[in-house]
Amino acid sequence: MNWLIHDYREDDLATVVHLIDTTAELGQESVFSLAECIGALTGRQPAVVAVHDGAAIGAALACTAGERAWVMRIAIAPGWRGLGVASALLRELERRLVALRVRRIAYVLPEEELLGEGLHNAGYTRRPAAAYFEKTEPAAGPSVDLLEELGGRLLPGDLWDKVAGMEAEKSLIERRIVLPLAEPELAARHGVQPPRAIALFGPPGTGKTTFARAIASRLGWPFVELLPSRLADQGNLAAALREAFARIGALERVLVFIDEVEEIAAVRGDRPDSAAHGITNELLKIIPGFREQDERLLVCATNSVRSLDPAFLRPGRFDYLVPIGTPDAAARTAIWRRYAAGRPDVDLDVLVGASELFTPADIEHAARGAAQSAFERDLARPLPGAPEFAGATTADYLAAIAGCRPTVTPAMIDEFTADIATHARI
Ligand SMILES: Nc1ncnc2c1ncn2[C@@H]1O[C@H](COP(=O)(O)OP(=O)(O)O)[C@@H](O)[C@H]1O
Ligand SMILES: [Mg+2]
Repeated sequence: MNWLIHDYREDDLATVVHLIDTTAELGQESVFSLAECIGALTGRQPAVVAVHDGAAIGAALACTAGERAWVMRIAIAPGWRGLGVASALLRELERRLVALRVRRIAYVLPEEELLGEGLHNAGYTRRPAAAYFEKTEPAAGPSVDLLEELGGRLLPGDLWDKVAGMEAEKSLIERRIVLPLAEPELAARHGVQPPRAIALFGPPGTGKTTFARAIASRLGWPFVELLPSRLADQGNLAAALREAFARIGALERVLVFIDEVEEIAAVRGDRPDSAAHGITNELLKIIPGFREQDERLLVCATNSVRSLDPAFLRPGRFDYLVPIGTPDAAARTAIWRRYAAGRPDVDLDVLVGASELFTPADIEHAARGAAQSAFERDLARPLPGAPEFAGATTADYLAAIAGCRPTVTPAMIDEFTADIATHARI
């Protein structure tokens, strides 16, 4: 099933109220009244809405009080119950609550026949009794501020599923990296050491950054990207790196991403006093300390693994060196399908065949070009009331592909193949 979940916006109010109202008649009740729900929505309390084909199919809302939050209502449109919308909504809602420093989330559901008669006599009005579910989130504490200072954040929960195709890489990363980190106890029982640092290498635009973000999303860990250029602004890059990692050490769990790591960990060369030398040395010193803590992963990405200092790549530092290449036909099909979704007349096989060596970024570029020409043609349509326009056609896509120079050349593929033989460790 396909749906999107977005943050509640003001113009969702009528739809959400309608959902709450109509689903209450179906027995999806709440201890919070409709008025309270509206109050929370208009008071900008956290809420999320699930949408399918432009129509709202579910909503979840909460209200917070300090470290505590109440899930006020999860309303699921008829026909969408039991399909996972409610749990998806709850997960998204929880992420927002945790970001607001909430530690205890309670969900009070009405349940019949839990109360004795005794309270009546004491003047109580009988109301359906409550089944009280509570979940304790790990302490966010001061690390929320720290995370903000480091420019880190929790990413949306669905990035992993959004990585189209790349099944071989996905499966490998899932088995070697995600699962041992997500299931540390089970991994320990099998003597599997969760990785602490990995490097992704491959030509530009193949999805290295995308994978790094998807891993963080999948683990539900905050994502902190260290930008060497920004750290260098502070003057001494080596000292800034040391300082950044010291602060990262105080976070409970985190994925740290360094893109284009060859810029700071290049071969040190002959001049031991050079700045690059000092920075590479600093990183070499930092990684062992970083590796000692649980629940953290350093992901470095590079387009040029061969220019990295060999000491940097030695086994004690990186658990895995994972090649991320250009997508195969299956992956390209999946990626093209994403852009041509809802247009059954587009011949995906033709596009896949015409886009060999294209990276996902190239495909994105070509798809955007095709959409743009279709859009312009539609604007130029002479007569109002002409037939409804259905989007880019196979011909539009092929024209865009023809006008697009793939980022990756055959020579780069040869280099990459050689790099896999020399450097890959998976
Ligand atoms: N597997 C994929 N499915 C869909 N889009 C992808 C995929 N991999 C990459 N992309 C898209 O291609 C672009 C380039 O990817 P990126 O991760 O930045 O590449 P890299 O970091 O290797 O240079 C991004 O816009 C990204 O969204
Ligand atoms: Mg990148």
